[in-house]
Amino acid sequence: MNIIDVRKDTIGCSDKIFLNSAGSSLPPKTVLEKMSDYLQQEELLGGYETAKIRADEIDLFYKETAKLLNCKPANIAFAYNATDAYARALSAIPFKNGDYILTTNDDYISNQISFLSLQKRFGVQLIRANNLENGDIDLMHFEELVKQYNPLLVAVTHIPTNSGLVQDVETIGKICKQYDVWYLVDACQSVGQLIVDVEKIDCDFLSATGRKFLRGPRGTGFLFVSDEVLQNKLEPLFIDMRGADWISANEYEMQMDAKRFEMWEFSYATVIGLAEAIRYANEIGIKEIYEYNKQLVKKLRNGLSSISGVRVLDKGSVQANIVTFHIDNKALNEIQNILKKEKIYFSVSIRQNAIIDFGKKNVDWAIRFSPHYFNTDQEIEKTIEVISSI
Ligand SMILES: Cc1ncc(COP(=O)(O)O)c(C=O)c1O
Repeated sequence: MNIIDVRKDTIGCSDKIFLNSAGSSLPPKTVLEKMSDYLQQEELLGGYETAKIRADEIDLFYKETAKLLNCKPANIAFAYNATDAYARALSAIPFKNGDYILTTNDDYISNQISFLSLQKRFGVQLIRANNLENGDIDLMHFEELVKQYNPLLVAVTHIPTNSGLVQDVETIGKICKQYDVWYLVDACQSVGQLIVDVEKIDCDFLSATGRKFLRGPRGTGFLFVSDEVLQNKLEPLFIDMRGADWISANEYEMQMDAKRFEMWEFSYATVIGLAEAIRYANEIGIKEIYEYNKQLVKKLRNGLSSISGVRVLDKGSVQANIVTFHIDNKALNEIQNILKKEKIYFSVSIRQNAIIDFGKKNVDWAIRFSPHYFNTDQEIEKTIEVISSI
């Protein structure tokens, strides 16, 4: 990876320290170029004609995403965001009253709300595996719950929104296969920064968004759907004319590939933009990105941990490029104003986003930095210096 070229391709990084790829990252400039070129053609020809002419380019989205995840293009469905992809997967599980969902204490807020909504409407029961003292999921407890409750679905977030914890999704996948449980992984914060290999994870569904570590446009995401799901004819509850053919007045026939999980209408300019962002990442290589990021985040975590009064909150034996911290005896808005003045871009996670985790950590807020491979060592040093001065 050539950091000089990467930064040249990232127009937004020249005048600020951008540490918010877990929120919505800076796209490479070719993403916007491809999208605006596509939109200009739509202006001249209309959306339908343009999509026909540029079908091969649209198809690249499926090919590049399949390459990223180590699957076939037929296993990929485009979605409008991660939550949309996740909801379609969840709606395909044939829950009955009294069925169980097994999840973790660290799963994403909207996923937890969806489980509770299923509980409210359909009487689906929700159980969560314990954490070990170090923050990892307690895999023994997890397996005991699988044996005891025989859940219909296991749902795990690979990296939570509010901490650097990386869940052991591969071991969980093995347990799910052993006990024959549907397995849904939220990889929203891991795609683009970690090697996410669906064959190794052995999941049935995996959802992600475009705008975070993948550096794609907003309003994009995707869903991986396994061959087993497709062969078992699981289908989203609100399947539409893209996902199925209406073959007689009272019958429809679902598509045999993951397009079963898509809706007919999308903004193809965003599909093209996401395809380009994923192509860009694939060209550099996720392994290269991961290796670079590992050094960057180690420097940041070590630097912040050594500042007195700064409490780095991330737990887990494996941690990725989300760093959360709290400064005791400092007002949040004071810290925010200083970071703003220094042009350091960041996010704030609040207790409501992570009721269980922040309850245990006993904080109401945390500053979240999420460095990515266009950031430099110098930027990390400057950030540590700014935080030290607070
Ligand atoms: C772990 C995780 N899952 C899902 C989501 C939702 O993604 P989206 O806003 O694209 O639906 C987020 C967003 O922050 C996230 O961090």
